[in-house]
Amino acid sequence: MKTLIIVAHPDLASSRINQAWVQELQQHDHITVHDLYRQYPKGTINESHEQLLLEQHERIIFQFPLYWYSSPPLLKWWFDTVLQAGFAYGPDGGKLQGKQIGAAVSTFGTAESYQSAGTNRFTIEELLRPLEALARYVGADYLPPYSLHDVSHVTDEQLEHSQSQYLLYVNAPAEQTEVQQFGS
Ligand SMILES: Cc1cc2nc3c(=O)[nH]c(=O)nc-3n(C[C@H](O)[C@H](O)[C@H](O)COP(=O)(O)O)c2cc1C
Repeated sequence: MKTLIIVAHPDLASSRINQAWVQELQQHDHITVHDLYRQYPKGTINESHEQLLLEQHERIIFQFPLYWYSSPPLLKWWFDTVLQAGFAYGPDGGKLQGKQIGAAVSTFGTAESYQSAGTNRFTIEELLRPLEALARYVGADYLPPYSLHDVSHVTDEQLEHSQSQYLLYVNAPAEQTEVQQFGS
């Protein structure tokens, strides 16, 4: 399945986790890795280019580090500019209908902290509800997210493991994807 990974990291060159994930996925021909901050350093998004990319892929995964319980801002701007009426919804829209949308997120907080009884109170699935709502609105199937937590304690070995687990998530048939949490 042709898969588009939309990466939103303001400084991928200094990133450890998201950069490692990108390095793994870039080795596979059916996966297109699209680095938003590199493509649009000034924040001016080429909507028609982005819409074409979306049309060319069946599965779309949004990958980002969690910033203030959300994504870095360019991804929000991307949603606002790319998912227009007449493309994503409305008359002559519906171009994302039947596609699959998922997310891969890294967090500083521990997996335990992202539970109802934990310090962050909400789970990653709950924090990603806007993406789930968006996917449903445009008629796409929403895949349970992939996440890696407690990134400052992730060893090189664990990072390597998360690369291969992430690849499995990206390639898994929709009915076999489930919430995947790694890290302590
Ligand atoms: C502006 C900013 C906001 C952040 N907000 C959160 C947050 O809300 N929750 C959290 O667990 N980590 C937060 N972090 C930590 C990042 O998620 C973490 O540094 C990132 O996942 C590491 O991935 P990387 O190695 O690819 O940069 C924040 C970091 C920055 C710079």
